[in-house]
Amino acid sequence: MGVVTGATVYRDKGETPVGIEDALGGRVDGCPELQYAYSPELLPDAQSVSDTIWRYRSLLPLDEQPIQYPLAVGHTPLIASPRLRRESGLSRLWVKDETRGPTASNKDRATALVLEAGLRAGVKTVSAASTGNVAVSLSVGAAASGLQCVVFVPGHVNPAKMRLCLAAGATVVRVSAGYNVAYELSRWTAREYGWLDRNTGVNPLTLEAKKTVALEIWEQLGEDFPDVVVAPIGDGPTLCALAKGFRELVACGAAGRAPRLIGVQAEGCQPVRLAWLDRTIPIALEPHTVADGIAVGNPISGEMVIRDVVASDGGLVAVTDDDIVAATRQLAMAGVLAEPAGSAAYAGLGVALKEQRMSAEERIVVLVTGSLLKTPDFITEEGNSILVDGSHEALKAELAQLSLV
Ligand SMILES: Cc1ncc(COP(=O)(O)O)c(C=O)c1O
Repeated sequence: MGVVTGATVYRDKGETPVGIEDALGGRVDGCPELQYAYSPELLPDAQSVSDTIWRYRSLLPLDEQPIQYPLAVGHTPLIASPRLRRESGLSRLWVKDETRGPTASNKDRATALVLEAGLRAGVKTVSAASTGNVAVSLSVGAAASGLQCVVFVPGHVNPAKMRLCLAAGATVVRVSAGYNVAYELSRWTAREYGWLDRNTGVNPLTLEAKKTVALEIWEQLGEDFPDVVVAPIGDGPTLCALAKGFRELVACGAAGRAPRLIGVQAEGCQPVRLAWLDRTIPIALEPHTVADGIAVGNPISGEMVIRDVVASDGGLVAVTDDDIVAATRQLAMAGVLAEPAGSAAYAGLGVALKEQRMSAEERIVVLVTGSLLKTPDFITEEGNSILVDGSHEALKAELAQLSLV
């Protein structure tokens, strides 16, 4: 059972203490970070039978009641792909495949913990704003939990993601003014009607849940840290949660030094990287990228990302949409189906190497955060596709043409 001992928010480049109840109740301006009384006893127990995120409940704000959330989340594979190692030139590369959750993105971790707390509190309706994957994750998680769900998405949301929300019975509010306005509306509606607000960047449970990815990486590497972890940046909590997870492992005495964190943004939407380079705060911009999950022009946790990247001695890199397309293909050839935002971090490896933010000998973990199966339209039909009339002769001729026989 995780006993929270304090909470802070990051403001004006410093941590300000806030009340634990206010933090958990969403009554704080900013995303609160919870603290525990760190000690080796809070580390995951090797004897634990759970291989879901509940394995880490000593570092989650949950008491001992039985878990009610019905979907299994966490324990995603850490893949050492010989093909990707060869192609990237990184002999100690692992892919943390976060597409293996119930709705195929890393958002399922946060949905699970927020809804577990909601079920315990007896809430009826949950809501959040989303570029797409949070909406799918929350819609499906809420439906499975017997809760009403309202999601706020940009007007141009990926149609497949919207259909998945509708299939799970959620109400989808499309906001033509875009994601950041959808976020404002979602926050306002949740306050107005007393709905459970799962919004990333305000609900501390989202960070708490997402930090479990760091705990899994540590366990999967034999209770050891990699040198570098590379993650995509949209609003920022994915990277901030990784940082929190590693910080807490260090505080519990699991290892000496947390890995360097490298955040990846799209060249057409890099407010956090530009601010980091200029040593200033992120300035809102209009996003232009094929990667909808990281098309966030005014990231909610941008300043926290810079804090965490700098504290880890890491950095931020930008990738082109062409880099993202190429990375998506390379990952697919290695058996990892990633949507554009999901392959962005892999795309960033080459840039990070070129900019000497890491070296080829280091132990590197790259996060793949969302699945291509939700965005199949992204892939063109480029490649070998033949149409035959059913005769063996025609088939033989076509196969020979392709030098397959
Ligand atoms: C697939 C995918 N990757 C990465 C991100 C960015 O995550 P964060 O907003 O935590 O930075 C998102 C956000 O929606 C996403 O859907």
